[in-house]
Amino acid sequence: MIGGILDGVAAICRAILPRRVVMWLRGDYSSVRGRWIQRPIEDLNLCLSRLRGMSYLEWYARRLDGFTTVDSPERREKFRKYMENGRDQFNVIKALGVQPHHAVHEFGMGMGRVAGLLVPYLSGGSFSGNDASAGRLKKGLDYLKREQGIDADHLLIVANKDNSFDWLKGREVDYIWCFAVFMHMPERDIEDVIKNVRKIMHEKSVFFFTYSEKNPNKRIERMGSHDWWHNAAYFRDLGERYGFDMQLHTETLRQNMAYHDATRLAAFTLKPAAAR
Ligand SMILES: C[S@@+](CC[C@H](N)C(=O)[O-])C[C@H]1O[C@@H](n2cnc3c(N)ncnc32)[C@H](O)[C@@H]1O
Repeated sequence: MIGGILDGVAAICRAILPRRVVMWLRGDYSSVRGRWIQRPIEDLNLCLSRLRGMSYLEWYARRLDGFTTVDSPERREKFRKYMENGRDQFNVIKALGVQPHHAVHEFGMGMGRVAGLLVPYLSGGSFSGNDASAGRLKKGLDYLKREQGIDADHLLIVANKDNSFDWLKGREVDYIWCFAVFMHMPERDIEDVIKNVRKIMHEKSVFFFTYSEKNPNKRIERMGSHDWWHNAAYFRDLGERYGFDMQLHTETLRQNMAYHDATRLAAFTLKPAAAR
């Protein structure tokens, strides 16, 4: 009801205000409503949850879990399209050198839209994954079983809210894939991931991750309760602190997927032992 009223107000504003005013009101956000209504409500919600003792990650996962229970024909169609979108990411992963005999872990695998392609591809290797939202994982894995016959029961897939990597119980992988996750994580959590990911890497492992960069001169910019932009220097310095070299692979994204201007793809590899 309130959502409908707000949509109506937004439509009237779009119709009567000059486009440049709408763009000015929108700023760096994807909508005026997102900036002036959704963001303050979510900020307040996060603030109250933190006061009640919830961590950021618990709050964020609960928020995402909530979306998975909403059902309507439009939502179902949107979800189906979202799952099909995994193909682009999969093409990027292959272009980066991942082969069927490799062991891969996906950090923040969400609903498994890439897992649906990676699991059968890794015929001689293995896949594991994790996500903070148990609801998203369940919804995605149910879909993969129903629609694509992929049974994930035998795989190491973990719903968790800690960035320790201890839940992989000593597993070592060749590649770690982390797509569209860091832009939803606060600084302390990102640092925990970068500090701990070492536990599942061997000397030649590669940790691929994306981040969103708006302004190359700004290390961190918070865009909303659960959205952050970072620059390359932020990740390079963090990597340096924990013994990683960083390379950029954004061009591989550009060539293989509908590309969002702000998205960057980077890889961490371990510095030679003598340089760590
Ligand atoms: C935008 S979605 C991307 C999902 C998936 N990588 C994809 O491309 O389909 C971000 C996901 O990261 C997960 N996430 C964020 N922070 C996390 C954390 N610290 N540990 C595990 N999962 C996390 C969220 O639960 C969410 O499913």
